[in-house]
Amino acid sequence: MATTAAARKPPTASAKTTQARAPAKAKRQKDACDLLDADHKAVKALFKESESLSESRSRSTTKKRQLANRICKELTVHATIEEEIFYPAVRKAIKDNDLMNEATVEHASAKDLIAQIKGMDPADELFDARVTVLGEYIDHHVKEERTEMFAQARASKLDLLSLAEQLKQRKDELMAQEDLKAVTPLAEPAMAH
Ligand SMILES: [Fe+2]
Ligand SMILES: [Fe+2]
Repeated sequence: MATTAAARKPPTASAKTTQARAPAKAKRQKDACDLLDADHKAVKALFKESESLSESRSRSTTKKRQLANRICKELTVHATIEEEIFYPAVRKAIKDNDLMNEATVEHASAKDLIAQIKGMDPADELFDARVTVLGEYIDHHVKEERTEMFAQARASKLDLLSLAEQLKQRKDELMAQEDLKAVTPLAEPAMAH
């Protein structure tokens, strides 16, 4: 009887806890490049959604407008945190001015397209094409950031963890501002006399 009871005894609580808590793989803390690349992936998914909407020949201009606004907002905030925080730090650390200048010029061109899309009627024949071209342009830009800029930044002495914190904080601020910008014109009632 005693042997059976001992055999049935479950493993001690401490042994169980240790087993449950052991991580399968040690997780690396997310650095600035991981954070920016998460934005890249999120916006890529939005472009895919926009492409499907365009292929479905949807007449829903409201949905198109909403999706395009979201893409423009995400990209504007992303470009701003790169220009304010990430690019200056990387420029100093990697000493590759050509790469940094090209990226800055690409941001300027993307912003031109964003401004055009924001001011355009989604029923316009060229609306979908402009969004598609912006997506292709961003694909190219992201590829260069991933393969050249991020690789060089990670090989440098930059503190990418502290940069990640700064990027995150600024992104939160800018997202809130963009939300305000989006609602303010609609919330303002016309002045009655
Ligand atoms: Fe960029
Ligand atoms: Fe980027």
